[in-house]
Amino acid sequence: MNTPASSNRTIRIFDTTLRDGEQSPGASMNLTEKMEIAQALVQLGVDIIEAGFPIASPGDFEAVREIARTVSGATICGLARCNDADIDRAWEALKAARSARIHVFLATSSIHRQFKLRMTEDEVVARAVAGVKRARGYCDDIEFSPEDAARTDLDFLCRVVEAAIDAGATTVNIPDTVGYATPNQMYRCISTLRERVPNIDKAVISVHCHDDLGLAVANSLAAVEAGAGQVECTINGIGERAGNCSLEEVVMALRTRNDYYAADTQVVSQRLVPTSRLVATITGIQVPRNKAIVGRNAFAHEAGIHQDGMLKERSTYEIMRPEDVGLERTDLVLGKHSGRAALADRVRALGYALTAEQVNQIFEKFKLLADRKKEVYDGDIAALCEDQFAEFPEEYSLTGYDIACTSGGSPRVTLRLNHGRADGEGEEKVAEVSAGDGPVDGIFLAIEQATGVTTRCRDFRVQAVTVGKDAQAEVTVELEYEGHLHRGRGVSTDSLEASAKAFLMAINRALAGSQPKLHPQRP
Ligand code: KIV
Ligand code: ZN
Repeated sequence: MNTPASSNRTIRIFDTTLRDGEQSPGASMNLTEKMEIAQALVQLGVDIIEAGFPIASPGDFEAVREIARTVSGATICGLARCNDADIDRAWEALKAARSARIHVFLATSSIHRQFKLRMTEDEVVARAVAGVKRARGYCDDIEFSPEDAARTDLDFLCRVVEAAIDAGATTVNIPDTVGYATPNQMYRCISTLRERVPNIDKAVISVHCHDDLGLAVANSLAAVEAGAGQVECTINGIGERAGNCSLEEVVMALRTRNDYYAADTQVVSQRLVPTSRLVATITGIQVPRNKAIVGRNAFAHEAGIHQDGMLKERSTYEIMRPEDVGLERTDLVLGKHSGRAALADRVRALGYALTAEQVNQIFEKFKLLADRKKEVYDGDIAALCEDQFAEFPEEYSLTGYDIACTSGGSPRVTLRLNHGRADGEGEEKVAEVSAGDGPVDGIFLAIEQATGVTTRCRDFRVQAVTVGKDAQAEVTVELEYEGHLHRGRGVSTDSLEASAKAFLMAINRALAGSQPKLHPQRP
């Protein structure tokens, strides 16, 4: 199954945005949001979607079950520790899937065995075998991960992997759980498994790298070079701590350097940018401007010398075409006289697959925006589409505000919120405050007074969606409430309104509650 790197191989893409990605602080998603992302991943062409850790909470179980029941076009996978309760719960959530996979894991490094599990090598092998066998009793597609494999003694790793395959594992995943490996080490690790594990041909070798040293993509590519047949990754590289291997980077590296890797994936690369934007909108985790492939500057040629070269011959400075990753080069401008058909056209060209009903809703918002702003750019339309995806049940919504402020003094804010009904027919809440360090702080204090929710603001960012003085502001905030982080995002031509919307979204998320949730890897 793991053929030599000289032939042209298809590498499986195992997306774990909904599981490991969701383990990023503040990135928890509700059911609708997870479904939205799962559908987008199918359109993107990933092979396997790790939909969650079903035993973590009733919400996680429900999300995996709904995705398994309704999403087709990819294998749906659920994570389980190597114990009966986890495995049974995972299968309960997955059983309706057309194609299901149970992913069982158990730590193998001496540091994890000694301090976390307090188990001997023999006990770990026995537990891994029992877990794989139990999972195999439910389904034919079983993945086994020796957690912290990159810090596991190679002889012991070979022993565990052989035993897991003998017990019925069809994929063996090699995680660099703490992002400690280097590319050369990863290459040697995969090569050693291929040389020394006698039954290795009965399973696909997979790799799962974290980015603590910024090496997750390089390590994953080194594993592919050594013969791995599956890469685990997340959209925008989100995940625990510094994140996971970024899907868009590994996919485009394999495609662009097919001459070198002789390997490719089934990913529809034109869906990379829209999927990246969707995940950024839903999680509130912004993509850095200079991020490879999907960052706003990834294809911008600012320096005169580059522009000159680009005009003569694109390949002088461009190794990929922006349209191949779903980035439209043209920035056609729409305005208040543009009709529904022109808007629908731009929405399609930008890679968003919206229903007629959704386009109608966006058209209403587009008209309001075109009244406030002369020129509506692609970035504005993308922001409208993303708002559509990111609809969140709102306990509180903004009706309006009045503000008076002078430099150096506290602002006077009157804030009006609607409580309880998304259609604006709920109860009106009014707060008046004369406090705060500037207008944004004043508005945040007024929202806290009106909702009765006190938070700590952990992050606040503003960026322009497009160009020009009348550009829409996109604000993201991260609030801490009862020990959990919640993110919110707001977009408006008025940056105070955008700030208020972002703050309210985070408060609505906080009020929707963070269910107590088991972390798969922490005792
Ligand atoms: O990083 C890790 O080791 C994991 C495992 C659960 C595969 O996420
Ligand atoms: Zn991980």
